[in-house]
Amino acid sequence: MTPEIAAAAVPSTLDVARVRADFPILSRTVNGKPLGYLDNAATTQKPRAVLDALTSYYTGINANVHRGVHELSQQATDAYEGARERVRQYFHAASTREIVFTRNATEGINLVAFTFVKQRLQAGDEVLISAMEHHSNIVPWQLVCEAAGAHLRVAPIDDRGELLLDEFERLLTPRTRIASITHMSNALGTVTPVREIVRLAHAKGVPVLIDASQAAYHMRVDVQALDCDFLVATGHKLYGPTGIGVLYGKEAHLEAMPPFMGGGDMISSVTFEKSTWNVLPYKFEAGTPDIAGAIGLHAALDYIDATGLDAIAAHERDLLAYGTGVLEAIDGVRLIGTARDKASILSFVMDGVHPHDIGTIVDREGIAIRTGHHCAQPVMERFKIPATARASLAMYNTREELDALGRALRKVREVFA
Ligand SMILES: Cc1ncc(COP(=O)(O)O)c(C=O)c1O
Repeated sequence: MTPEIAAAAVPSTLDVARVRADFPILSRTVNGKPLGYLDNAATTQKPRAVLDALTSYYTGINANVHRGVHELSQQATDAYEGARERVRQYFHAASTREIVFTRNATEGINLVAFTFVKQRLQAGDEVLISAMEHHSNIVPWQLVCEAAGAHLRVAPIDDRGELLLDEFERLLTPRTRIASITHMSNALGTVTPVREIVRLAHAKGVPVLIDASQAAYHMRVDVQALDCDFLVATGHKLYGPTGIGVLYGKEAHLEAMPPFMGGGDMISSVTFEKSTWNVLPYKFEAGTPDIAGAIGLHAALDYIDATGLDAIAAHERDLLAYGTGVLEAIDGVRLIGTARDKASILSFVMDGVHPHDIGTIVDREGIAIRTGHHCAQPVMERFKIPATARASLAMYNTREELDALGRALRKVREVFA
């Protein structure tokens, strides 16, 4: 265990048995063994409260929103807009006009790339990201840069997986049109110094998008405290349904941006000659939205807050420290990503064993981990490895599951001895 991680470990106060009882899927078996779900960075499991919210929406008030005068439509609209207000509270935005529902984080980043950034981007301009971004925070920028003849700049990371802040600062130039940086790396677990990132960028007049896809279910994310210009999150990692995501944008930016997609609901008037746009945030929500998804996300955020993000974070810190110890005790295992500020991700390689073989063998023991490049191929390149095995933690995980992972990895060792 690294001293930093050991020092971070504090006793957990979370009643994990009670939490686990709220997640129906956790009681199933896989390959005849109790499920040990350690693939939370890919998606989290859903508490019964979320499943119930989806069912009661469809059985009680299913109707399209914003369009009907009938009672069901009004109830569905109230529930959908109630979800927006809940998201506003969760991320502490100043106004619901700043909360746009998207399909996922990827759509939020594309929206900003193709509306806020694309029309400001001239040949020779720059977009700044970091070397530990998820593909969804790389490829949209490549698309808009390529179209404009602009350049994608990449702030490097060190061998621990920490962002080199001085390099980041150096790469902020008068040509930088946006910096788009992860709050927490899905491949390494690194938590980035987002406040400092925003401060440095703003000092040079550069707006900042924060990708909070991973951070948002592990720690408090406050858009006003961060002073970020945009932030994206994705519902299915927040213990909510798939198909719903969140884009936060400062109102002045969103007002100035053209629509991303055209269609119903995002207009104020339409003629064949000209259409005009709806007010915020509807200008960015073309077509029937994921009403059920928003309502499910509302229930998920209620569940997280009722459980307590501080208690969740303390429990996950304990698991991270414990899991680090479990992995370090296994012959030939090397952790990839040892940042001093790190959360809930144990990415590792094992001498002489391909990560896919690790994943397959531990699956036979009922343990779900992810193997591959984790949609972060440049991170793999940075560490000169093809892939890692990754165990990622959430509020319902236990030390026993990490022990089971350790036993399964010893079997991997035996098979490849
Ligand atoms: C850091 C990070 N950013 C963005 C994404 C993309 O999320 P989604 O696929 O839900 O859009 C992920 C998903 O793994 C992620 O971990």
